[in-house]
Amino acid sequence: MAAVAERVFSGVQPTGNLHLGNYLGAIKRFVALQESHDCIYCVVDLHAITVWQDPEELKRHTREVTAAFIACGIDPTRHIVFNQSQVSGHAELAWIFNCVARMGWLNRMTQFKEKAGKDRENVSLGLFAYPSLMAADILLYKATHVPVGEDQKQHLELTRDIAQKFNVDFAASIAANGHGEGYFPLTEPLIAGPATRVMSLRDGSKKMSKSDPSDFSRINLTDDKEAIAGKVRKAKTDPEPLPSEEAGLKARPEADNLVGIYAALSDGTKQGVLDEYGGGQFSAFKAALVDLAVDKLGPIAGEMQRLMADTSAIDAILIDGAARARVIADQTIRDVKDIVGMVRG
Ligand code: AMP
Ligand code: TRP
Repeated sequence: MAAVAERVFSGVQPTGNLHLGNYLGAIKRFVALQESHDCIYCVVDLHAITVWQDPEELKRHTREVTAAFIACGIDPTRHIVFNQSQVSGHAELAWIFNCVARMGWLNRMTQFKEKAGKDRENVSLGLFAYPSLMAADILLYKATHVPVGEDQKQHLELTRDIAQKFNVDFAASIAANGHGEGYFPLTEPLIAGPATRVMSLRDGSKKMSKSDPSDFSRINLTDDKEAIAGKVRKAKTDPEPLPSEEAGLKARPEADNLVGIYAALSDGTKQGVLDEYGGGQFSAFKAALVDLAVDKLGPIAGEMQRLMADTSAIDAILIDGAARARVIADQTIRDVKDIVGMVRG
């Protein structure tokens, strides 16, 4: 097989309250990958509506995620930034993947089980099919690398399973249409670094999340410097000093989380942080973390606010990005229709 050009794709849902977990697990890494790869970053509004979204809020949140991307350093002229619903290929390919993926595979998805809870009969059909749409997002662009937080690992494994089954089921047609041995790449997840799973600042056993009722559980990207400092100061800890070795963080989820956050914000490692602060009082480390968090995150909120003041400029970025995404997506949809055996003009 010819060497496949590397391409990065990732998505963030416009469901409000972008937080430090989204930043360290995803957006900060999106920014870094711009130097080495062609990148496509998508505001996944079709995913958002798998649970109820107020229409006006959905628009506002879509623009807010776009503003956050740009405020954090994503360059929408060198790369592609757009919202999913503007490129119809996502929904089209998702349908085809709904016919490739097996019920049993989706039944195993832990995110669905968590989100549906006990109310399985009453959640949307879209929530069940969510991972199939996610596979379509990625494979529509034949993306080879997908940066995400730890919680998306299982969805990326499913994406590989769908690509693999499509390539096998349609092998003869793929070859007959001149695509050689496999049409879709087997995508690599990029889940790395010290903050792939940022935990709540109030409870080290719970993931930091958009929907936690306590605003003190997370640092929002829209928080100003005072709010950031206050939340770090109040973050739950234990009374012990920091250990000097990483192993000493094992049974201390809150300390582990804060060390991971410090490491990620300073582009270092947990061990590096412990080399500097291990053995010392927790309060000294916390004071340093307050300064670091304010320094790195403080400017983002201001820049987001500035960008949000001109929604037509944000919309223009999304429209332009969608037009460029569509060029790639349309080619995939034409190929897939030929492979599956759909008559087209
Ligand atoms: P979502 O807000 O669910 O669309 O997530 C957007 C991105 O942020 C995905 O790559 C998630 O894996 C990542 N993410 C969400 N929450 C966290 C967290 N607490 N820690 C690390 N990454 C996260
Ligand atoms: N499911 C992802 C999340 O909740 C968002 C997402 C949708 C995504 N499509 C994607 C992430 C494609 C990576 C690639 O975080």
